[in-house]
Amino acid sequence: MNNVSPLPFHLKGVTLSRGGKQVLKDITTSFAADPPKTVIIGPNGAGKSLLLQLCHGLIPADHGVIEWSNNHDRDALSKSQAMVFQRPVLFRRSVIANVILALKIAGFSKSERRDRANLALKKTGLNRHAATPARSLSFGEQQRLALARALAVEPRVLFLDEPTASLDPAAAHLVEGLIEEATTDGVKIIMTCHDLNQARRLADEIIFMHRGRIKERANADRFFASPQNDLAQAFIRGELLWWRRQSIFNDVRDDDDRVACGTRNNRGEC
Ligand SMILES: Nc1ncnc2c1ncn2[C@@H]1O[C@H](COP(=O)(O)OP(=O)(O)OP(=O)(O)O)[C@@H](O)[C@H]1O
Ligand SMILES: [Mg+2]
Repeated sequence: MNNVSPLPFHLKGVTLSRGGKQVLKDITTSFAADPPKTVIIGPNGAGKSLLLQLCHGLIPADHGVIEWSNNHDRDALSKSQAMVFQRPVLFRRSVIANVILALKIAGFSKSERRDRANLALKKTGLNRHAATPARSLSFGEQQRLALARALAVEPRVLFLDEPTASLDPAAAHLVEGLIEEATTDGVKIIMTCHDLNQARRLADEIIFMHRGRIKERANADRFFASPQNDLAQAFIRGELLWWRRQSIFNDVRDDDDRVACGTRNNRGEC
């Protein structure tokens, strides 16, 4: 594992616009090694994927900054954190070559790349596909390959965007096991998911997002027992439908999320 951790990292007043609209709004929060697994939930379009991409360094914020610890520059960051995307991008080469290339980019010596790649494929149940062209894998297998590629470089922080969204139950179970195992190895997991049962199983803490804002952040047990924010309550009851928000909260204007915000935590989020 890369020895120097970039944790904790801090987002300060981060905003992002897309298509002339603010899609991340003044986000100020921090991520530390503890708790190990942070799961971000919220309705479609809440900004979950963009937040991960921004933390991963793939897109710049319009305003605000992200500050990493231990003087991590862009180069060091690329070795200490990895991301698995909702739609993985694989290179036009074999399954094992995809993992080997990721290891090369992360600076692993030629002599150790193949062993590490084989181990990562074995862990993710893809060893029998090692020589298969990566792009001919099924979508679920491609997602597992993306995870193998990310885990092989032993990141300190792993961003996972709906890592089991298109997996069958057995493969999803395998991926959940890999996530737990990575945590045991000291990897900080920051992931999104739509499966609330999975969030209950995996999360140490929950971040609930709605329309570009963090509405609630809490210990997972506490969150699921009694979410404080009214939108979060509606969401876990399965009642927060993006096209019917007005009818659930008649007093809430669509463009003013703060009005609906029930509580504010000690980080100043609501
Ligand atoms: N390039 C773009 N142009 C315009 N709008 C965009 C663009 N990229 C993202 N958005 C908008 O930003 C908002 C947040 O997108 P994001 O993908 O982060 O949502 P999400 O919470 O991950 O949703 P989902 O649960 O469906 O994955 C959405 O309303 C989306 O339509
Ligand atoms: Mg998304």
